Amino acid sequence: MATILAIETSCDETAVAIVNDRQILSSIVSSQIATHQPYGGVVPEVASRQHVELLNSAIAQALSSAQLTWSAIDGIAATCTPGLVGALLVGVTAAKTLAIVHQKPFLGVHHLEGHIYASYLSSSDLEPPFLCLLVSGGHTSLIWVKACGNYETLGQTRDDAAGEAFDKVARLMSLGYPGGPLIDRLAKKGNPKAFPLPEGQISLPEGGFHRYDSSFSGLKTAVLRLTQKLQQESPALPVEDLAASFQETVAKALTKRAIACALDHGLDTIAVGGGVAANSGLRQHLQTAAAQHNLRVLFPPLEFCTDNAAMIACAAAEHFNQGERSPLTLGVLSRMPIANVSQLYRP
Ligand code: KG4
Ligand code: ZN
Repeated sequence: MATILAIETSCDETAVAIVNDRQILSSIVSSQIATHQPYGGVVPEVASRQHVELLNSAIAQALSSAQLTWSAIDGIAATCTPGLVGALLVGVTAAKTLAIVHQKPFLGVHHLEGHIYASYLSSSDLEPPFLCLLVSGGHTSLIWVKACGNYETLGQTRDDAAGEAFDKVARLMSLGYPGGPLIDRLAKKGNPKAFPLPEGQISLPEGGFHRYDSSFSGLKTAVLRLTQKLQQESPALPVEDLAASFQETVAKALTKRAIACALDHGLDTIAVGGGVAANSGLRQHLQTAAAQHNLRVLFPPLEFCTDNAAMIACAAAEHFNQGERSPLTLGVLSRMPIANVSQLYRP
């Protein structure tokens, strides 16, 4: 059993959590959304500075809410890739400093592995192999989880990530940022069949379409053209019907690929992770389709779909229990394939 304190600062949430293996002892998330809202997206330099301001109190809060002192902590972890380099540096530098001061091992964690591990927090009986549908602001991936640290990416987006598509479509409908939750709320009141929209597909040279890769930039352009046309007819956009039609198209595209991928690889469980796992349309479509094919589908609670440090701590705990540690010379990287996570634990 390992008690791990983890720091997550890869984007715009300053988060600190303590877990004991798969059990959460505390989880603090300080969102910067309000700071970035006037800019319509995350401003990297502003994010880094906010992390510096918020991190120390988040660490203190995580310890006090778990009613623990440093002596109870076995290891200190931080997200070190992928993400905004300046933002990652704040968390990694803090974690390394604390590791030195308190003489604890340090572990760097791959952010996407964290999203995979979010499912273990609510389904502690979950064991590999399973398929992870990872849908966030930066990624849309189908990952075959073979063991801790052993991942194969079977499908991904060729352009915009699913969350990015939600954010861009919300922007062109002048809804605000982040777009996912806003579209989700409007979609509940709209007609998903109001506007048929194209599902982006990746053509194969030999004919037909790629079964697992997705593309959302064509869909985004289709919504742009549609809104321009509708605005010419009437200045008041039917935002609820537009949101519902867009969400339905994304949910169906993701569901189709996830189900095909799980069945083709003989995997009976699909664990969903990332901010878009909070989407009600995706939850409904995937749950219905999974039931038809006798597949188990797991969605983490909403607070663990979006960025948090509990999922990072949970991934770190498993690596810690395998005897893995990161060198204090480990740096941060804006990108790294998830297949390479073992590189984070080489002496
Ligand atoms: O995983 P996450 O918090 O951060 C990244 O690692 O990217 O995901 C953030 C993304 C944003 O694009 C946001 O619009 C989207 O998740 N999102 C949603 C919902 N809640 C958050 N997208 C669709 N429906 C939601 N309910
Ligand atoms: Zn994330």
